[in-house]
Amino acid sequence: MLDAASPQDNLLEVNNIEVIYNHVILVLKGVSLSVPKGGITALLGGNGAGKTTTLKAVSNLLHSERGEVTKGSVIYRGQRVQDLDPAALVKRGVIQVMEGRHCFEHLTVEENLLTGAYTRSDGKAAVQRDLEMVYQYFPRLKERRKSQAGYTSGGEQQMVAMGRALMSRPETILLDEPSMGLAPQLVEQIFEIVKSVNENEGVTFLLAEQNTNVALRYAHYGYILESGRIVMDGPAAELRENPDVKEFYLGMSDDGRKSFRDVRSYRRRKRWLS
Ligand SMILES: Nc1ncnc2c1ncn2[C@@H]1O[C@H](COP(=O)(O)OP(=O)(O)O)[C@@H](O)[C@H]1O
Ligand SMILES: [Mg+2]
Repeated sequence: MLDAASPQDNLLEVNNIEVIYNHVILVLKGVSLSVPKGGITALLGGNGAGKTTTLKAVSNLLHSERGEVTKGSVIYRGQRVQDLDPAALVKRGVIQVMEGRHCFEHLTVEENLLTGAYTRSDGKAAVQRDLEMVYQYFPRLKERRKSQAGYTSGGEQQMVAMGRALMSRPETILLDEPSMGLAPQLVEQIFEIVKSVNENEGVTFLLAEQNTNVALRYAHYGYILESGRIVMDGPAAELRENPDVKEFYLGMSDDGRKSFRDVRSYRRRKRWLS
């Protein structure tokens, strides 16, 4: 139920959070972001920037990593959620698809998908309908439904992980690095599915990606994270045209395409940090 006082358009608000691992390692240094209902919001940044930590702070998965939100707040639908356990959050409609597409390797594809429905209490028929819905988005999984998940390809496992999340009938999916380790064509296919799930099912996405290029083509809004701080944010179309983003994240500049090595050395003199 919507709290009358809550900002109606933002489902999720992360306010100035600080995250510390093992009591001493400060990883997030005041991260704030808003995720509007029905949108695709991208959290961008290189390896180690703090993307996964931010998603886990939202889904309350930090405890198992000895991490802790020590400052700030995480608000979902106007209510503070940082003291809930991950299962309670799933019941409220927020589910995370972990980086590295974790599947139950010994279960079949279909059994994996069905595990995603464990928090539901609306009966077998509804679950069966949603299984068919997942197979519509991922026809490949229907073909592979009797296969043991451990023997499917990386792309198929990413689809299983996303399909399993969909089986919980989420309002919001926190999607961590869906492109990781996948061939470009497959990455495009995965993002097309994100787009159609967003448009047809109204699922809100917060997605973490190192692949700035593809993420900014599908997201509506983006935040760029560096060393635990948001250094830039804006509508995706604006970020795509921003010269700094082009230079440092998209590997091009006004004088043409730069090699990755060039971009890396230019990183040291980033304009917006100095
Ligand atoms: N469990 C942990 N304990 C200590 N440090 C961690 C832990 N997990 C991540 N970190 C550190 O936090 C920083 C951010 O990591 P992470 O959130 O995984 O970044 P990203 O997802 O952007 O690659 C990195 O420096 C990483 O080494
Ligand atoms: Mg990560």
